[in-house]
Amino acid sequence: MAIRNIVKEGDEILTKVCRKVEKFDAKLHTLLDDMYETMNMANGIGIAAPQVGILRRVVVIDTGEKKLELVNPEIISQSGEQRENEGCLSCPGEYGITVRPYKVTVKAQDRNGNEFKVSGEALLARALCHEIDHLDGILFKKHTIRMLTEEDLKNMR
Ligand code: NI
Repeated sequence: MAIRNIVKEGDEILTKVCRKVEKFDAKLHTLLDDMYETMNMANGIGIAAPQVGILRRVVVIDTGEKKLELVNPEIISQSGEQRENEGCLSCPGEYGITVRPYKVTVKAQDRNGNEFKVSGEALLARALCHEIDHLDGILFKKHTIRMLTEEDLKNMR
């Protein structure tokens, strides 16, 4: 396993649409392991492959309660709404209030190509939406109704 460099906002890699994974091989497994390690090292709760420079539809999430590896994930249903604070490993120091569905159900494949479904509410729903957006070149700022100011951040510490 290895820590990979996290691509930052401004790099055009983060604006690209990623390709589907077709080979569930050792290279994919290494990518998933490296993404997990990179996310942990950066204290993130999710990371998408383009954030480590790989234009493939691969996401890793660890909310503390739930650890997920999602290959070729797709949101198949969503409901409700939440407005919460969100940030991104590719936009260090920046946070904003986003509008997201309260609950989503996602269809994906695991590292061996087996299909599964997962539903998430609240934080997990936000993480799923945020990371899947990365696969289509979309950053959380597209969904913000307000970015947090220095003052807001100070009050949160
Ligand atoms: Ni992000």
